[in-house]
Amino acid sequence: MKHGPPIAHWTGTWLCMALFLFGGVASAAPAAHDPALIKGPEACGKECHKDEAAVWTATRHATSFRTLEQEKKVGEILTNLGIKGGMRRAEPCQGCHYTMQMVEGRPQATAGVSCEACHHPARDWSDVHGDYGGKEVKREQESPGHKQQRLAKSIAAGMVRPVDLYPLVRACFDCHLGFEEKTVNTGGHVPGSLIELVSWTQGKVGEDGKPIRHNLHQGKENRYSPPERRRVMYILGLALELEYTIRALGRATQEGMFVQKMAKQAKQAAQRMKQVNEKVTVPEVAAILAETGKVKLKLNAGDELNPIADAIAAQGKAFAARADGAALAAVDAVIPWYPEKP
Ligand code: HEC
Ligand code: HEC
Ligand code: HEC
Repeated sequence: MKHGPPIAHWTGTWLCMALFLFGGVASAAPAAHDPALIKGPEACGKECHKDEAAVWTATRHATSFRTLEQEKKVGEILTNLGIKGGMRRAEPCQGCHYTMQMVEGRPQATAGVSCEACHHPARDWSDVHGDYGGKEVKREQESPGHKQQRLAKSIAAGMVRPVDLYPLVRACFDCHLGFEEKTVNTGGHVPGSLIELVSWTQGKVGEDGKPIRHNLHQGKENRYSPPERRRVMYILGLALELEYTIRALGRATQEGMFVQKMAKQAKQAAQRMKQVNEKVTVPEVAAILAETGKVKLKLNAGDELNPIADAIAAQGKAFAARADGAALAAVDAVIPWYPEKP
């Protein structure tokens, strides 16, 4: 890239901005999972994934189920949005804050953010995924042929495996940067998270933060993802951050906190992506920066911004599918967070 994308010149002031009001329908935040497809964290963690469940139980994703509703802020947001009744029963909050499951025929909040929020709803794949060739057969005894078939069937039924990085980490951005303008500007909700994928998946975030990292498949030790994978995560995280902030800008209809924060975050992500581009030659990174350069800040511009976000999504996906972290060592110099000694 010879010159920086125009996004780098954004001033953050919206006062002299032209308003284009062609009333395009802002694309809504991604829909929550169908509660009928959810098995719940106990189904995954009680017998099979005990170690992963133990990690999860200590994270904010799990503990907020008990603590969040007591916070004064919750009442304020609900009042601002004119929502009556508790947060757990409020549909606009459920998709991002709770595991919604069918209990006695009705969808109910049964946990905080749990396994299936990221690994996708398990009803249709949990049985085949946990069957190593009959009741008596343990995982270590499974034949390679059976394993291959089992994985293929599980994936066909909707399971997202950690190797499939793109669909797995897309879930993070659906919740952490998937806000409606109204939730933020009227409700007073935080506008989104400054989610940087390496630290957010591997390390601690926030003062009392417990890492969400669970890499326990190869033994009891909860390891960091290897540096090769972290490089890919970093670049993919920036691609997703750009995609989601640009989509959010496309949902903006008024000046205020929402559009300001999303513009600022998009700009920061673009700058970080430029740093990556200065270190390594990756065609998808260059293409994403070219797309980002097309962004013009104005309200009600979903028709212009969504195709840019879609193009960035396609590049991110393509990158994740073929990326070779071993060839990206130069990126280490610009990744803001490193694990302590594993
Ligand atoms: C698009 C997903 C999404 C929706 C919808 C959503 N939240 Fe949140 N909420 C989050 C995320 C993500 C965080 C954590 C942000 C962080 O810490 O980076 C959060 C944090 C919070 C916090 C703590 C932060 C603070 O402001 O003190 C409260 C309170 C809260 N949400 C209440 C609500 C209520 C009430 C609703 C329903 C009206 C709601 N949320 C809807 C995703 C969402
Ligand atoms: C279903 C929605 C949802 C998904 C999916 C999701 N999160 Fe969250 N996450 C939340 C909410 C809501 C909170 C805040 C809970 C609270 O503060 O009560 C949160 C909090 C966190 C925190 C703690 C932040 C802090 O300040 O301590 C981290 C770290 C985190 N999420 C990382 C991730 C990562 C990484 C992914 C993807 C692998 C992810 N999340 C996927 C909704 C989600
Ligand atoms: C917030 C999103 C999120 C939640 C919630 C979550 N996972 Fe994961 N999971 C991930 C990510 C991301 C990875 C890949 C981590 C990496 O490469 O560092 C992963 C990796 C895994 C792995 C492979 C590594 C290992 O430890 O064996 C398993 C198995 C797994 N998760 C099971 C679970 C189970 C069971 C739960 C619920 C108790 C759960 N996950 C909850 C996002 C999540």
